[in-house]
Amino acid sequence: MAAATSLRLYPPNSNPLIFFSRKMVQFRGNSFFSTLRSSSSRFPTSVHPNPIRKPKPKSNGAVSVHPNPKPKPSGIVSVRPIPNGNLEPSGLVSIASSIPPPPPLPGVEGVMMEYICGQRRATLVAHSVWKHIVREGDTVIDATCGNGHDTLALLKMIADDTRKGRVYAMDVQKVALENTSLLLDHSVNPDEKELVELFSMCHTQMGDVVPDGVKVRLVAFNLGYLPGGDKKMITRSDTTLLAIEAAQKILMPGGLISIVAYVGHLGGREEFEKIEAFTSKLPFESWNCCKLQMLNRPLAPVLVFLFKR
Ligand SMILES: C[S@@+](CC[C@H](N)C(=O)[O-])C[C@H]1O[C@@H](n2cnc3c(N)ncnc32)[C@H](O)[C@@H]1O
Repeated sequence: MAAATSLRLYPPNSNPLIFFSRKMVQFRGNSFFSTLRSSSSRFPTSVHPNPIRKPKPKSNGAVSVHPNPKPKPSGIVSVRPIPNGNLEPSGLVSIASSIPPPPPLPGVEGVMMEYICGQRRATLVAHSVWKHIVREGDTVIDATCGNGHDTLALLKMIADDTRKGRVYAMDVQKVALENTSLLLDHSVNPDEKELVELFSMCHTQMGDVVPDGVKVRLVAFNLGYLPGGDKKMITRSDTTLLAIEAAQKILMPGGLISIVAYVGHLGGREEFEKIEAFTSKLPFESWNCCKLQMLNRPLAPVLVFLFKR
């Protein structure tokens, strides 16, 4: 049973919107992964416990490999876009091929290869990159916690026996904070959930929740609207840019700001273009800024990484 505790509100004296149960996360058990798979529509597969990725079962939902109705001569590959082809989560392609797949590569290399081959979602590429930045005991921020999948992934990375690590997760929607709390309740034990603090606030104020003297290793933005929620409640370019500036101030050298920008909804492309323009001008002496973007899927999400030197 979940341990009941209250949500941190921002500003501190504001009306309480919501109460949560808080738990820390135990990532070692299988239950985390089975729960994640069953409770996620946006991330139905592919979050795996080990940086060394094991071969995925072909029925995992990220890629549907279907038998060829008419056998083709060896070497011919048929690529069939799933309906809604350019938008995640269904923007991955289904591939029927008589060519046997190459052996999977471990870690981020394998994830990148799958992304390049249209078999891996941008969000999971981001998670894979985070694993190379975030260490156990770190302080990290989920600036748009939504349904909690990124919060859970981050918790996996920072949790250890020292209990020093923290995930500060925030959202402006009550339902998003409830969903995140529920996901943690179903995925982890109460002690582990205590490593996550949920805030009902705009991410422009993220600097206020980090204790004095604590530097942040990673700030994650997963922009746009809450999957399964009100599609009119979206991140907006003006506040997103202010939040990126807030993140820059609290990030430690060697830290990362990770942004998944969606361009398929109204205002999404404008938001991405403003982020692109802003981050393109950051001084390269202190920031290494890059993006990963599909060239022939104009509505596919774009990944932006800002690494602080
Ligand atoms: C794409 S969803 C996030 C998905 C989430 N990271 C996950 O793993 O499920 C975007 C979220 O940003 C939230 N949001 C919008 N504007 C915000 C703001 N100014 N500050 C914080 N969160 C905001 C929305 O309420 C929504 O839940």
